[in-house]
Amino acid sequence: MRLILLGPPGCGKGTQAQRLTEKYGIVQLSTGDMLRAAVKAGTPIGQKAHDIMARGELVPDDVVVAIIAERIAQPDAKNGFILDGFPRTVPQAEALDRLLEEKGLGLDAAIELKVDEGILHHRIQKRASEMKARGETVRADDNPEALEKRVHAYRLQTAPLVSYYRNHGSLRTVDGMAPILDVSAAIDRVLEAPKGAKAKPGKAAVPARAKVVARKRTAPAGRRKPAKRAGKAKARATGKARAVRSARKRVVKKTRRKAINKARRRG
Ligand code: AP5
Repeated sequence: MRLILLGPPGCGKGTQAQRLTEKYGIVQLSTGDMLRAAVKAGTPIGQKAHDIMARGELVPDDVVVAIIAERIAQPDAKNGFILDGFPRTVPQAEALDRLLEEKGLGLDAAIELKVDEGILHHRIQKRASEMKARGETVRADDNPEALEKRVHAYRLQTAPLVSYYRNHGSLRTVDGMAPILDVSAAIDRVLEAPKGAKAKPGKAAVPARAKVVARKRTAPAGRRKPAKRAGKAKARATGKARAVRSARKRVVKKTRRKAINKARRRG
């Protein structure tokens, strides 16, 4: 299983990736974690990434692509992996396509965790206080100013990947606003759905009731009747098409019968 988790900072990528590693016995490849480890170890990559990450900007594509290329070549990634936070730009996605193609591998799904931006500050704040309570060092980018920039970078550089994977046919969208366990269940559903029954591009895997409510809210009352009429018109059009098809069949049969009779007459 090879998956991508896609979504803005704090949408729950790390939370869901951890559960998926247990469920499928595959590794979580988080570029954020790898970069933070490099910063902590003071490696040349870490030194390069330190300030960029603290500002909430993206580390250059060539740096992260090299990290991922090296990481997916490791033996523990052979069974599959979950990419958490990579790719984050179209050039990174294209580089990943090339890497997988060279290895003769494919992607099972790019799962988008769809959330309202308003919730992100709350989630990041919550994570920062939880880390503080555990006596851990709070992430340098988990503050309101850096988060603002991270969200901006997401909108500008990462959000286009939703269309990218939709066009590739691998996008699965899940409602990331739901409680953690419900998000997990929705991911399971989109992954376990038979291959032919792919979720419609861009459609969130939300409960059926929510869909009905959403439809009621979005459909203006005045439009409901014409929609019905449109249905009748469509039925009439279908009936006409059927009549034309039968007429055509009759002509073909008649022509064939004439040809047979002619051949018989000739002997
Ligand atoms: P990275 O570490 O990837 O951070 P991020 O994308 O900003 O995402 P987060 O880790 O903040 O959030 P998450 O979506 O994992 O949410 P989580 O599960 O923790 O990247 C950091 C930086 O590294 C980047 O800004 C960039 O500089 C650099 N970088 C990394 N990759 C790069 C790349 N490919 N290219 C260039 N630069 C790169 O959840 C957050 C909180 O919400 C938790 O407290 C959790 O318990 C809670 N929560 C989760 N789900 C729910 C839910 N459904 N309901 C309620 N609470 C929830």
